[in-house]
Amino acid sequence: MSYDFHTAYQRPGIGCEKYDKRQAIFGTESVIPLWVADMEFASPDSIQQALIERAKLPSYGYAERMAGWTEAVGQWLARQHHWQIDPAWLLPTAGVVPSLALAIQTLSQPGDGVIIQPPVYFPFFGLVRETQRQLLLNPLREVNGRYQMDLEQLEKLARQARVLILCNPHNPGGRAWSAAELAEVARICARHGVSVLSDEIHMDLSYPGITHTPFAQVAEDCSYLMLSAAGKTFNTAGIGGGYAVIPDAVLRQDLQRLQNTLHLNGENIFSLLVTETAYRHGHDWPTALMTQIAANRDRVYAACQHSAITPMPPEATYLLWLDCRALGMDDQALEQFFIHRAGLGLSAGHIFGEQGSGYMRINLASTPAIIEQAMQQLEAALAGL
Ligand SMILES: Cc1ncc(COP(=O)(O)O)c(C=O)c1O
Repeated sequence: MSYDFHTAYQRPGIGCEKYDKRQAIFGTESVIPLWVADMEFASPDSIQQALIERAKLPSYGYAERMAGWTEAVGQWLARQHHWQIDPAWLLPTAGVVPSLALAIQTLSQPGDGVIIQPPVYFPFFGLVRETQRQLLLNPLREVNGRYQMDLEQLEKLARQARVLILCNPHNPGGRAWSAAELAEVARICARHGVSVLSDEIHMDLSYPGITHTPFAQVAEDCSYLMLSAAGKTFNTAGIGGGYAVIPDAVLRQDLQRLQNTLHLNGENIFSLLVTETAYRHGHDWPTALMTQIAANRDRVYAACQHSAITPMPPEATYLLWLDCRALGMDDQALEQFFIHRAGLGLSAGHIFGEQGSGYMRINLASTPAIIEQAMQQLEAALAGL
């Protein structure tokens, strides 16, 4: 199947966050938006057609997942990630972040410690604080230009923690954690009775030649659950929905009970349909997509070559973490430089935790033409310094 990664479909005025929130986020509409983690591309035809056909049936009552959904998710995990699950482990959810909130509340009490590994996807901070848990930080260490986990410090923190939120692969650092690193996390967490919430929403987005390791493959006797969704991979985040894989029956029932109590179920006719269709028909999409993302990454590398910006080579995700510390600007000046001098709307690194200070995150899931324009603007701005 060939896919079109050259046409941009997002635009202002269609209720699309990437464009319609620019004024609120950047204080101006005049930036090329390369921030929020969704894509400019059309979702595959199979998904479009399935949605159109279902929408033509003009009755949109409550949804129920069908056996085909469960089968499609199971087959996707088996085929793409070599993980055989028992269909009983699977629950549809409203999305990954709502499920993290449910899981934290299922597995811990107010005041209990929850570990996160900054710089990291910023809603993790709020999830811990807003559920009145104690935020325990296990910052990543930058070694030879890429992030590694500080496993010694993790072991110390694990003594006071109930839960670890693992970002696998890591946003914004782009690490596809190795089986050895994940196995050590599992051993530490098992030793101290810490449950791992493995957020694997970026699991399908590995660069050519890189393999994603589901935490489940190394978990052994570590308590864990895995959360994911088709939305990041197939650009359907605006439709919502996702799923949890929870092998432990007690944990599964407890989480399901809380989900029901809050009426936060994941049975949405369109999101169930998208997941099933994407996973049935989208096998060659991730490779095609990541080939385009790699070309876009290379264009950004070229723009940054011989400059004070050093991109952190990513293994996964369509996000690229730019080390801008050598520009010698504080965070506010750095943001202003990108917005007003380069005309680019990127995510400011410090929102991912203080460890992200001096960095910016760029979203590569755009057309080559948009990336080209953005890089010409960046090159001109850098030349003007
Ligand atoms: C690591 C990570 N988890 C979760 C999400 C969002 O998940 P959802 O929209 O399913 O709540 C994102 C979106 O960028 C993400 O990067």
